[in-house]
Amino acid sequence: MTEDLKRAAAEKAVEEYVESGDVVGLGTGSTASHAVRRIGQLIAAGELHGIRGVPTSARTAALAREAGIPLVDLADSRPAVTIDGADEIAPDLSVVKGLGGALLREKIVAHASLRGLVVVADGSKSVGSLGGVPLPVEVEPFGYEATLAALASLGCEPTLRLEGQGSQTGDPGRPYVTDGGHYTADCLFPDGIAEPGALETEIKRIPGALETGLFVGLAHAAVVARADGIEIMEG
Ligand code: A5P
Repeated sequence: MTEDLKRAAAEKAVEEYVESGDVVGLGTGSTASHAVRRIGQLIAAGELHGIRGVPTSARTAALAREAGIPLVDLADSRPAVTIDGADEIAPDLSVVKGLGGALLREKIVAHASLRGLVVVADGSKSVGSLGGVPLPVEVEPFGYEATLAALASLGCEPTLRLEGQGSQTGDPGRPYVTDGGHYTADCLFPDGIAEPGALETEIKRIPGALETGLFVGLAHAAVVARADGIEIMEG
């Protein structure tokens, strides 16, 4: 059921926001994967032409190749739009991302996109305010213990993400390593995140904190599928 909703949201976003000739930022995660497959199907059916994709992870690059989407990188072209999933979406379209482990590249691609980010999700991701899930922060491995201590001083409980946890696969017990060679700290804020923009600024003052999963002002739309229909939220 949830999988059907993820697919419905992703397919609607492709229908509404992707046009022939576009360079498309291709997100990472189970919901974004449905968008990648749908774009591939529409190319194969001759309904979309001249599409090129910018993948946000090695996983997505492999899926896009399988789906028949030609890939380019950011050095060559800026995406027109990026379609990606989320872990939480607030009413103002600020978003938490990164539980799937690809937040830094996702944010670089979303930020470079001319028409911004379109978030796709099932209704369980839509929340009144952010912070019900731990906030992922991508951190430099060197001195990560000090970085986690600095994060804790902001009022959260940071946990180093290990392989074999959540959607991560690999050697259980070892730190999960991102495509960029970094670690991830999952930071639970017990009272939630009242001011996402201010928190993002504070976290980024910590030298080893490379990027946060707070996407503020990057999403221009969210396509959210529930059992009773699809909602399109536009900022
Ligand atoms: C990947 O790093 C994440 O930002 C995902 O986009 C996010 O975790 C949503 O994933 P699902 O669509 O699998 O829930």
